[in-house]
Parts: sequence; structure tokens; C-alpha cells
Amino acid sequence: MPGVSTLAKQTIDVPRHIAIIMDGNGRWAKRRLMPRVAGHRKGVEALRGVIRACAERGVSHLTVFAFSSENWRRPQEEVTLLMELFMRALENEVARLHENDIRFRVIGDLSGFSARIQALIRDAETLTRDNTRLTFTVAANYGGRWDIVQAVKKLIAAGAAAEDVDETALAQQLSMAEAPEPDLFIRTGGEQRVSNFLLWQLAYTELYFTDALWPDFDAVALDQAIASYRSRERRFGRTSEQVRPVS
Ligand code: IPE
Ligand code: IPE
Ligand code: MG
Repeated sequence: MPGVSTLAKQTIDVPRHIAIIMDGNGRWAKRRLMPRVAGHRKGVEALRGVIRACAERGVSHLTVFAFSSENWRRPQEEVTLLMELFMRALENEVARLHENDIRFRVIGDLSGFSARIQALIRDAETLTRDNTRLTFTVAANYGGRWDIVQAVKKLIAAGAAAEDVDETALAQQLSMAEAPEPDLFIRTGGEQRVSNFLLWQLAYTELYFTDALWPDFDAVALDQAIASYRSRERRFGRTSEQVRPVS
């Protein structure tokens, strides 16, 4: 039955959830003697391609780091331009996401954004909430430590006693509570660090680092990352013999 084997292959081969740190926009622009914002613009285009590629490959969750809680430390001019770009992307891209049955979410401390951006985010989330093909989440003004702290605050506010607090209870309050933990983490741009991205959720994620700068990252590069993921043995603390299927 070809149908069944295709399905089985897909479940094994394709990560359910891919999380990406899109890094290297500034260097991409610098190499071309262009302003950094040109790299960010090109980065939005690359993201469009990667969203499409993920949907086509049957990935069910894609989460990208667009702006960290530490990125406010950049020069004011770059922060302003990034905010404008974020707003334009929200205005121009959401309809296309919706047409493609993609659910859009933003995680992070939204209070740091303008009222206009907050409204666009709310509208986009409402519009796309019932879409099922792919859940596309943007982490904006996000920090993994912030996420854990806000989860603890919610538990306290709900009146949780110390004995009620366990990993499951805490995980349920995190921003990505409804998504499976990432199977594959990709960071472009050559740095090999997590930069305060999904700290809790990355505990058992397969990590993949590439020197490719984000604006150059395309479907071929995504397939290379997925191929690397497929070659890994995910043991979750067990031995190789325990997790290998008996042949
Ligand atoms: C990533 O590219 C995008 C954001 C952090 C907003 P960078 O802007 O960090 O690019 P590099 O690392 O300077 O090349
Ligand atoms: C991390 O990129 C955050 C995003 C891609 C949005 P940075 O380029 O800001 O990371 P660091 O500070 O160099 O680690
Ligand atoms: Mg960077």
C-alpha cells in the first residue's frame, strides 16, 4: 500500500516543528555595501520562501525569531526601521498566509510594540485562528527567560501551591504551550548560540547551525537541514539499542 508507506515516511522524516533563528541579515547587506535594513528586507523574502517550503513538506509548526528582547539595544535607527518592516509585513503578508490555510501567531512581550502593531497582530491572529495546514509563529520582543518568568507569574496568579508546580504545569503556561516542542532548531549566520530563544522547549531539540546568511537561506538549504535532522538518532536519554527499531 503506497499510501501507508508514504504517510509513515513523512511522519519519520519531516520534523513536526522547526524553530529558526534568522541571523545574518546585517552581514548580508554589509557585503553588498548596502544599509543593514536592505538585509532585513531581503530576510522577509527569504522567510516567505521558507514558510512555503515548510507547508509543502508537511511541517506542522514553524517558529521564527524575528526580534529578541535584547535587540532593543541596537541603534535607535535600526530598531525603528525593523518596527516599520514588521508593520509592513503584517499589513501585506497576512492575507496570503490566510489564503494558504496558515495559522499566524506572535509570541513575546507585545506591550513593547506600538498600539498599531499590537492591533495588526491581534487581527491577524483572529483571522487565521482556525487554519490548520501550518502554524507559523513569530517570536517578537521574545526572550526564553522572559517566557519562563511570565509562566511562573501566571501560576502564582492562579494561586498554585508549591506542590502543584511541576514541569507539566509550568509548560502549560509557556507561550508555546499548544505546540509540540521543536524537533529541529536552525540558526543561520554562523553563530553557534541560542541567544535566549525557546530555552525551555529546546531541551531535546536537534540543533543545526549553518554559515549561510538568512537572506540566502532557501528551500534547498532547508532540505539540507532536514537531511541532517534525519541522520540524527534521538535517544532522549535512552541507549541506542533501545531506540533503534528491530530489523
Ligand atoms: C538577524 O540579522 C535579524 C535580527 C536580529 C533582527 P542581524 O541583524 O542580526 O544580522 P547580523 O548578525 O548583524 O549579520
Ligand atoms: C538573535 O539574533 C535574534 C534574532 C535573530 C531575532 P542576534 O543577531 O541579535 O543574536 P546575538 O545577539 O548576536 O546572539
Ligand atoms: Mg545577528
